[in-house]
Amino acid sequence: MAHLLEAEKISTHFDVTRGAFGERATVRAVNEVSLHIDPGETLGLVGESGCGKSTLGRSLLRLIEPTAGVLRFEGRDITRLPAAALRPLRRQMQMIFQDPYASLNPRMRVSDIVGEALDIHQLAANRRERDERVMALLTRVGLRPDQASRYPHEFSGGQRQRVGIARALAVSPRLIVADEPISALDVSIQAQIVNLLRDLQDELGIAYLFVAHDLKIVQWISHRVAVMYLGRVVEEAPSKALYALPRHPYARALLRAVPEPDPTRKRRRLALEGDVPSPLNPPAGCAFHPRCPIAERGRCDTEVPALRELAPGHRVACHRADDPSILAAAMP
Ligand SMILES: Nc1ncnc2c1ncn2[C@@H]1O[C@H](COP(=O)(O)OP(=O)(O)O)[C@@H](O)[C@H]1O
Ligand code: SF4
Ligand SMILES: [Mg+2]
Repeated sequence: MAHLLEAEKISTHFDVTRGAFGERATVRAVNEVSLHIDPGETLGLVGESGCGKSTLGRSLLRLIEPTAGVLRFEGRDITRLPAAALRPLRRQMQMIFQDPYASLNPRMRVSDIVGEALDIHQLAANRRERDERVMALLTRVGLRPDQASRYPHEFSGGQRQRVGIARALAVSPRLIVADEPISALDVSIQAQIVNLLRDLQDELGIAYLFVAHDLKIVQWISHRVAVMYLGRVVEEAPSKALYALPRHPYARALLRAVPEPDPTRKRRRLALEGDVPSPLNPPAGCAFHPRCPIAERGRCDTEVPALRELAPGHRVACHRADDPSILAAAMP
């Protein structure tokens, strides 16, 4: 059976000018990423800020046009589908954002924010049907019908995210790209939103690309996880396998950085030196080598590691991924 969404070697590069002389340069935000999402499943997408997660998420929906590669939706090549032919598919692929406040029109009532999605796709026959659907959607995401006439600023962050979810749900999508939907929320609220998304998935069979920088939250919701570093997927695996034994040194560092569940204890920081290098000028060879604790000189700094399948569905882009000393190293 065809995957719901499939990306084959998708790259998204941005041409920019920089410096005093306006030199042209290319930001390689996404590089040859291949992945798929099946109906009703969640693929978690994890990596530090600047790794290209948002660019990839938007490219998959063609909200940004990829520079190269192929996109398929239910087996159909949509890479170069003209706008008019893409429109009915837009309904099937929705997005929710980190900051619902920025993505919700502050001058619109919540009922109209949700209703607008129905209008655009002509999903309600008349006013009454529209109002009923809006009320049902707001109730489904845990808001009260009497809150429908309020404006976004009258809600808390978690409630605003519920509005964003109701808006996405209005058009009965098959896939939702959730771009860090809980990163800006209090920890106590995060779990509520994740639970809501999980319930909706169970009920409606929606698939998610769930973007986050916190591996812990992703573990909770994802069937599979892809770890991204500097525009590339460096490890992809079923959640269980990834959390039991992450193979890529970057994935291992991310996992070690999972915050303590007990808030009175100090949060663990990322056990890595420095920041993500600039995608304007990525390091040669394995892009992770300047920060990698086990980089091999002469190889890691010259040869780009290919993504290899080490176990069913478990792919890793590291020259040393099957090195016994790595596998033996104690994990937290
Ligand atoms: N429109 C753009 N023009 C130029 N560079 C961009 C653009 N959008 C994103 N980038 C760059 O691409 C890289 C990846 O960004 P992004 O996809 O937002 O990463 P993430 O979501 O993982 O934080 C960053 O270096 C960012 O500065
Ligand atoms: S390829 Fe080399 S530098 Fe890259 S993650 Fe593996 S060991 Fe580290
Ligand atoms: Mg982002």
